[in-house]
Amino acid sequence: MKLTAVAATGLLAASLVAHATDPDLARNLAAGCTGCHGTEGRAVSGTGFDSLAGLDQVRMLQKLADFRSGSRPATVMQQIVKGYNDEQLALIAAYFAAQR
Ligand code: HEC
Repeated sequence: MKLTAVAATGLLAASLVAHATDPDLARNLAAGCTGCHGTEGRAVSGTGFDSLAGLDQVRMLQKLADFRSGSRPATVMQQIVKGYNDEQLALIAAYFAAQR
């Protein structure tokens, strides 16, 4: 019983640390965007989707905030941004900003 509790606490701590420092987290979150915006945010020409690779993080977050508030009209992005919290969007924006 006592051992189980210790093991459970250890697992919980390990998963918290993994969450905070998971190097793949940003990439995994951004994977939800690449179906439209291209692998690593490099849109395929002719598809009409904007490239996100190399877009400044702050500018991207502003665009996403405008979609979320509805101040920028959109066909799909208004709904898509609502599926992520601010922390997740910041990670996604940082990920794409780092792509060249
Ligand atoms: C289903 C396809 C689709 C997915 C998935 C998608 N987008 Fe978009 N994105 C669009 C379309 C279409 C537009 C143009 C605005 C509109 O009509 O919604 C757009 C526009 C944008 C823009 C504005 C580009 C610019 O330079 O003005 C940004 C930034 C953006 N998307 C980021 C994201 C991020 C971040 C994700 C993942 C969380 C994402 N998109 C997922 C289709 C998509």
